[in-house]
Amino acid sequence: MMKKKLRFNSKTIHGGQIIDPAYGSVMTPIYQTSTYAQSSPGIHKGYEYSRTHNPTRSNFERSIASLENGNYGLAFASGLAAIDAIIKTLDPGDEIISTNDLYGGSYRLFKKIFEKYDLRFHFVNMEDLNEVANKINNNTKLIWAETPTNPMMNIIDIESISKVAKDNDLLLCVDNTFATPYIQRPLDLGADIVMHSATKYLAGHSDVVIGAIVVNDKKIFEKLSFIQNASGATPGPMDCFLTLRGIKTLHLRMQRHSENAEQIAKFLKNHNKVGNVYWAGLQENKNFQVAKKQMDAYGGMVSFIPKDNTYETAKKIAEKLQLFTLAESLGGVESLCCHPASMTHASIPPEERKKSGLVDSLLRLSVGIEDVNDLIDDLNNAIG
Ligand SMILES: Cc1ncc(COP(=O)(O)O)c(C=O)c1O
Repeated sequence: MMKKKLRFNSKTIHGGQIIDPAYGSVMTPIYQTSTYAQSSPGIHKGYEYSRTHNPTRSNFERSIASLENGNYGLAFASGLAAIDAIIKTLDPGDEIISTNDLYGGSYRLFKKIFEKYDLRFHFVNMEDLNEVANKINNNTKLIWAETPTNPMMNIIDIESISKVAKDNDLLLCVDNTFATPYIQRPLDLGADIVMHSATKYLAGHSDVVIGAIVVNDKKIFEKLSFIQNASGATPGPMDCFLTLRGIKTLHLRMQRHSENAEQIAKFLKNHNKVGNVYWAGLQENKNFQVAKKQMDAYGGMVSFIPKDNTYETAKKIAEKLQLFTLAESLGGVESLCCHPASMTHASIPPEERKKSGLVDSLLRLSVGIEDVNDLIDDLNNAIG
């Protein structure tokens, strides 16, 4: 009972956690087993087979549900496996409206896998509610939002989109990977489903690939839980353990990621060889008031364009960085730099990328929790 009332910074450590009933182990044990003894056919201690349930996974699922203020959590083998399960709740002929600025792998899954099964996806600028409303028809079933968007850091008004969804009897899913529940809790703002690449900030140490979903509605949970077991894209217990361990410091890390990113965004804005800078906390952003309303901090993701707007300059900067590692992914304690057009977003056709402003000269930084002065020195040296 008491745990329900915990504040966020205690929930990261205790939320949804059950002390191991076997030996009282304070840290969740890694139940490295595929199966469980039964005393008589069908008589067991709640666990039969580890694709279906596993005690280490259950603790992770309760933890993420607690952080997102949801009733049910589900763990998957990756963020994309979580998205895959959500889309599989739909039927052939159904239509989905998605943000046009989104993770390239989500776009690839939608276009290259699910369109074959007669699902139809519309990609719109979701900062404009009219664009969403214009695409709704009798076949529309789901709105898919990412905010802040990847990599342009646009802000989508979750509460307003959830009203559009409710008025039209649609589900709203928010990919909360970039913000994390430390910063925004989409279910509280009216979303039906919240999804994570827990690979990123939740696990937080670039040592695991894992995904998660949280929902409030029992029927949606049962559908997803059926797919989780029937399709079988579940994470192993070691990965769940690592993610639980990472979550215990989520609040500390996100606070520092956000503070460091603020200083880096300001440094880049004042640099004479830097053009546009994209960070959710910049006051001049079109939707800054929405960000202020729905986010408790602004996160560690910053994108920018060199002043001359050329791929050659962006490439040189990426090559010269030393403390920022040039690599895919984000959300770990160490700082990373990514060139979205050739890396994370290469699966989106160039003409689609250009529509959302994702030019070939754009660099995306995942600002880590190192000393920010060292990070600024590294950028200063690379930008020249
Ligand atoms: C916003 C977002 N959603 C989903 C994913 C996919 O997650 P995973 O790589 O864990 O499959 C990513 C991966 O980069 C992401 O950045």
